[in-house]
Amino acid sequence: MLVSKIENGIVIDHIPAGKAFQVLKLLKLPADARALIAQNVDSRTLGSKDLIKIEGTYLTSNEMDIIAFVAPDSTLNVISDWQVKEKRRINLPETLEGAFNCPNTLCPTNAVYGAPNTRFRVEKGTRVEETKLHCTYCGSVTYYGTIQENIQNERFRMERRGLVSRGKIEQVFLEVLLKGGALRLQTSPDKPFTLKSGRPSPYFINLGALTDGESLAKLKWAFASYIALLMETGELSDFDYVFGPSYKGISLAALTCEGLNELYGMGKRYMYDRKEAKEYGDLSSDQVLVGAGYFRPGQRLLVVDDTITTGITKIETIEKLRLLGEHRVAGMVIAVDRQEAMGDKDNVEERSATQYMEEELGVKIHSIQNIQSIYGLIKDSLTPELKALWLDYYERYGVVKLE
Ligand code: CTP
Ligand code: ZN
Repeated sequence: MLVSKIENGIVIDHIPAGKAFQVLKLLKLPADARALIAQNVDSRTLGSKDLIKIEGTYLTSNEMDIIAFVAPDSTLNVISDWQVKEKRRINLPETLEGAFNCPNTLCPTNAVYGAPNTRFRVEKGTRVEETKLHCTYCGSVTYYGTIQENIQNERFRMERRGLVSRGKIEQVFLEVLLKGGALRLQTSPDKPFTLKSGRPSPYFINLGALTDGESLAKLKWAFASYIALLMETGELSDFDYVFGPSYKGISLAALTCEGLNELYGMGKRYMYDRKEAKEYGDLSSDQVLVGAGYFRPGQRLLVVDDTITTGITKIETIEKLRLLGEHRVAGMVIAVDRQEAMGDKDNVEERSATQYMEEELGVKIHSIQNIQSIYGLIKDSLTPELKALWLDYYERYGVVKLE
């Protein structure tokens, strides 16, 4: 075909002819998004169809639900490394939550205070124009004409607010790190940062340094969006608690938990550990793990933190969670992977901390950023002397090579 292949992103194919612009519009792509539209191209099955290609993005299931009202039976192709990695039919969902308002002003979902999300049962006809929405709270019916009008006038909510792409998350996050002061660079050759492992590092990452509201808002957005994305792509399984190791992890877990609720409609709880066990209290786990009072056997936790260096702190966290009894760790989401080998100042082991965690403890680590890409962005601003320190450090302790 006339349109070139893409490296990473999505292709929405088999869109009914003439509908591509409507689909594109409802996705609310950022102005700098790279997208390609093909209209009225030949199709084996449809005679004539539209097609959209968007680079560097992913569609959330919520977005797919809404697209289904405009372009039912289109196909979502997820492209990664030039290959079609996944092909999904975009179908009308059985139920639709939170996307449209209920037309009945007296419906509980339209209450001023504490209104629940709307929830509609989707009645499907043979043609998309016969689709109706039944409010599960008040029984009112919304016909297709109104649905279409709502979409055209942008009267709908994407619970998972717009398109979340990994690139966008990485970019916002990097801004926070650099501008908010969470990434500190060694400024003089004889003053490295001494890490908990004893290693003399040319940089230091500390999300605890982010204390201004704007940085916190972005941090929340980045963590929540990254987690939502990982869940959408199936890289992360569902969980019940966001766990943050004290001290820094506490606010991070609270922010993440709140962000998941506000931005993605996910109802999770958060939990954290005390550095020193409380002397009183009823549950043994509650004396150390705050929030454990809600915990039920078999529930799952997602651990969030800022960095991983040698993994020792992470292993300690996993140990502490044993107090809960039967539980599962769904994974760990961290801000930056320092990409270092296990060990300390004098010992450098074969495996990286992330490898160890995965292989020995079965805990997968997902990092929003890693030091290799951060280094790539800052290296030109380093003096030759400081640059040499970075290279030496990674020569000795790294599992990646910096250049
Ligand atoms: N595509 C792309 N970039 C790639 C791979 C595929 O833009 N690196 C596009 C193709 O041009 C096509 C769509 O993704 O429009 C689906 O690709 P593929 O499954 O290979 O094509 P078909 O067999 O035509 O798909 P279907 O069976 O769904 O009609
Ligand atoms: Zn209603």
